[in-house]
Amino acid sequence: MHTFSSLSERIARAIDGLSFPQSPALLYQPMRYALLSGGKRIRPALLLMCTDLFLQKIEQEHVDVSLGVELFHCFTLIHDDIMDKADLRRGQPTVVKKWGVNTAVLSGDAMLIEAYKLVCRATDASALLRVFNHAATDVCEGQQLDVDFEQQPSITEEQYFIMVGKKTAALLAAAAAMGALAAGAPDTDVQRLYGFARCLGVAFQLRDDYLDVYSDTGEFGKATGGDIAAGKKTFLFVATAEALAEQERDEFLQLMRSSHLSPDAKVERVKAFYDKARAVQRLKEVENSLFAAAMQNLAMVSVPQERKLLLESLAQELLQRTK
Ligand code: IPE
Ligand code: IPE
Ligand code: MG
Ligand code: MG
Ligand code: MG
Repeated sequence: MHTFSSLSERIARAIDGLSFPQSPALLYQPMRYALLSGGKRIRPALLLMCTDLFLQKIEQEHVDVSLGVELFHCFTLIHDDIMDKADLRRGQPTVVKKWGVNTAVLSGDAMLIEAYKLVCRATDASALLRVFNHAATDVCEGQQLDVDFEQQPSITEEQYFIMVGKKTAALLAAAAAMGALAAGAPDTDVQRLYGFARCLGVAFQLRDDYLDVYSDTGEFGKATGGDIAAGKKTFLFVATAEALAEQERDEFLQLMRSSHLSPDAKVERVKAFYDKARAVQRLKEVENSLFAAAMQNLAMVSVPQERKLLLESLAQELLQRTK
């Protein structure tokens, strides 16, 4: 069985081994920068764990597909940082901050194309591409909803879960399903692993929403408070808007729209509303029920239970992460 750390090392080596042309430098240098800036490599590791679950070995072509998923993820981050006007990622200036919008758009596009080339290296690429394409469309839809919601005073919990299911969970779910598919797993198991990772993916975004407010920028690697400044409809926002009584809710929504406070003062006042609404407790409750649902899906996968332990501990670690 391959552990998360051994897989991460293999993924890191494979990423180091990718070579891009030197010229045009302003196309390829930002790609190298984004790819080599670290990151947890969760999606490729998850994909390879799901292959290993059935095949009990990992071949080079599986590593290639997993890199395809990681490059796709890095592409979404480059474009996401343009859309979210983010200056910091993985503790470094974002591609858009360092090189500007035009370079970030085009090097992101080139990264997306490289991602597809890697997935196409698989023996049965067409089955994998069906799942990959579905996720790619979901991510675009989710990202559009995320931006649309910035302009709305409030959204429902249901709208939140649709957006997050698409922008974040779809790619984690696809990674797990592609790993199982590449190993020739039965369809029912592919679907259960998709369900497992989808639940984890939603929980992953809940945790990201939480860390955006309550983590330390040094460790998280992104500027904290960014979601509040951008008017993002995070889970903490939705839970607060739902729990408060009418008058306080109006005050909260007005505060969220205000632009006269300093960013730090605004974050402090927003946090006071989160506390009043017990939004963090509610977030943790939802995280726990998503974890339980993920485990139910995993339990039904038709391989011996002891082979699933690594996926179970990955799931646990994702829920406790601080970056
Ligand atoms: C960041 O994903 C984007 C979200 C879906 C929240 P990760 O937290 O996996 O980012 P890296 O790759 O580890 O930097
Ligand atoms: C993540 O949403 C979704 C994608 C990157 C597709 P965020 O905008 O919250 O991600 P971070 O926090 O910038 O990594
Ligand atoms: Mg975003
Ligand atoms: Mg963002
Ligand atoms: Mg975020």
